[in-house]
Amino acid sequence: MIDTFLSSKLEIIEGLTQSASTISPKYFYDTKGSALFERITHLAEYYPTRIEQEIMATHAAAIAANIGTGCTLIELGAGNCQKARVLCELIAPARFVAVDISEEFLHEAVNALRSALPAIDIRAVAADLNTQIALPADLPLQQRLVFYPGSSIGNFDPAQAQALLKRTRGLLGMDGALLMGVDLHKDLAVLDAAYNDAVGVTAAFNLNVLNHVNRLIGSDFDLRQWQHLAFFNETESRIEMHLVAATDTLVRWSGGQRSFTRGERIHTENSYKYRVEDFLALLARSGFSRTQVWSDERSWFAVILARP
Ligand code: TRP
Repeated sequence: MIDTFLSSKLEIIEGLTQSASTISPKYFYDTKGSALFERITHLAEYYPTRIEQEIMATHAAAIAANIGTGCTLIELGAGNCQKARVLCELIAPARFVAVDISEEFLHEAVNALRSALPAIDIRAVAADLNTQIALPADLPLQQRLVFYPGSSIGNFDPAQAQALLKRTRGLLGMDGALLMGVDLHKDLAVLDAAYNDAVGVTAAFNLNVLNHVNRLIGSDFDLRQWQHLAFFNETESRIEMHLVAATDTLVRWSGGQRSFTRGERIHTENSYKYRVEDFLALLARSGFSRTQVWSDERSWFAVILARP
């Protein structure tokens, strides 16, 4: 674990010291960040989680019929395993592999799931989705279903998204499938509100990344000097999340420092919003040519089943 810790440290410092400062969104998900994100998913303004659940519930029979029972379910970014629990009840997989970057949070969730679903062989794999995922060696190749909900794919730029989809294709045999959620392009006011909630949970979530960074690299970010900023960039078709320095400020860590002038930003995440046809083209370029799409009546979100 020492070398992952060191490489996180180097990656964070490299991001911070670039002229356009960045922090990778994977650092949002320490224990507190994972809990704050869970709160975001319950906010009235944050429609993606709710609408995805509605689509899955409305089309449950069709989805279940397409997948069948007894598969090996692999969820990317399993988090609290709540979505997997619902899906397990629907498709009765033989085994379930929960993959997530937040190891601590994952183990708790997996233990709870084991007691709730004793008939399913449940495993936890801590992994960064930017790299090739090492699945347990004894996992059968047949009938694998990768589940990638929550439109997390939107947090990768289109080139990275294609690379991730290709790696996912590499985890599957010809009888495998990918079931995923994709947030769609829509009215600006709706998008804007989803990332700027009235009670400030989203702001707390974005700012919390600085606490996590402080712990990881021993820096002295003062959260009171930073503000949450989120807006839709129409040209790139993405929500951009930033932290903005409220005053001129100097951040130090052992071996380095970075000064920020008032108004200067740290870019923390993008959330791409796709048009269905563009996403299907991306899937095709990544090795998934057979697709089925389910959506809500306003076409805010899509649940897609894709096969090689
Ligand atoms: N993956 C989530 C998304 O893109 C993360 C998220 C929701 C987020 N709200 C946020 C990230 C606010 C930063 C700030 O929808």
